[in-house]
Amino acid sequence: MPRHQFLPDTVWVRDGQGGYRPINRSTDPEEWMAAAYADQALVTQFTDGLPSSSASMPSMVLRMLQLTQVTAPERTRQQPLRAIELGTGTGFNAALLCALLGQSAVTTVELDPVLAEQGERNLKAAGYAPTVVQADAAQGCPGSAPSARVLATFSVDQVPPAWIAQTAPGGRIVTPWTSAWCCYGTLALTVSASGTAEGRFHDFASFMPMRPGSDQDTANGAHAQAIAAEEAKSATALSPWAVAGGELDAEFHLGLTVPGAFFSWDTTGEHAPVRLRVEDTTSTSWASVDYDGAHTTEFTVTQAGPRQLWDEIAVAYASWENNGRPGVARHGLTVHADGEHTLWLDSPDRPFEV
Ligand SMILES: C[S@@+](CC[C@H](N)C(=O)[O-])C[C@H]1O[C@@H](n2cnc3c(N)ncnc32)[C@H](O)[C@@H]1O
Repeated sequence: MPRHQFLPDTVWVRDGQGGYRPINRSTDPEEWMAAAYADQALVTQFTDGLPSSSASMPSMVLRMLQLTQVTAPERTRQQPLRAIELGTGTGFNAALLCALLGQSAVTTVELDPVLAEQGERNLKAAGYAPTVVQADAAQGCPGSAPSARVLATFSVDQVPPAWIAQTAPGGRIVTPWTSAWCCYGTLALTVSASGTAEGRFHDFASFMPMRPGSDQDTANGAHAQAIAAEEAKSATALSPWAVAGGELDAEFHLGLTVPGAFFSWDTTGEHAPVRLRVEDTTSTSWASVDYDGAHTTEFTVTQAGPRQLWDEIAVAYASWENNGRPGVARHGLTVHADGEHTLWLDSPDRPFEV
């Protein structure tokens, strides 16, 4: 699939300093073409200063297609395998689905009307005409249900019940995962005849989060209202670097087991030489953990609000250690028809108490 045919004239790549730099087709045609065929994600749109659409990293696209089980052997089926892609973006992944399954079996859904139109044009130019729907993918795509495969190309922290309801028994749902704490992992679920969906997380991929549809509240509002709640001080032996310093397995586990909590580092030195600040998307709770520049076995904790966020994190981290420091792939989810999520370790008969 000629990836460059799906790209806009300007794409953005990471600049190595936490930002992005543009590559323009007319001013730097060689670099632009090299970027098109490098194994890297290319940002194609920013909204409010943050990437809001991209051409995903090709190796991730391939791994997601493999997990979705739409690769070549399916073509021998009598019935065409119907697939819904959520997040059309450039249309590149939808084109691959068309090549694998036939365009009449493919529907792709995009929230942004400009992207939906451009994606459809890109697909047409590449010789494909799947059904392109401009809509909020949180509702799935009722017009194309039931489908045997649902493949999201943005990350979620909950599996929308509509996706399960619209997937035929035995069908697969594959979606990148995120939590307030950690954006990582890919969940692959199989839907049963009873309407539950069950499956494991896989140890790859970090995708931009699902955008809220226009009728939804924008999340993360609660923490913005500062409150003068009573502050409680204590000491902790748990290093802030253990939970937020880049240990992916721990951070992934905390994201699943301490819902709503998110963190930022304060290295300005204003309050302490280094401070980890923890906040909550669902309440005004916050906590801070200060390193005094000298002691690495004891840190000062301040907490306020209805949730004792640091206490929750310390309990969840201890539980992660007691369970043998499970990696991403030891985690799994059962999603019930009513939307309830049950987390498990190793197998569905080992539900994990959150
Ligand atoms: C990583 S990009 C998709 C890459 C794309 N599949 C490709 O091959 O180029 C994620 C896309 O999901 C779209 N998106 C995010 N939230 C959405 C939502 N609620 N409904 C539909 N599309 C959404 C974004 O606008 C963006 O285009």
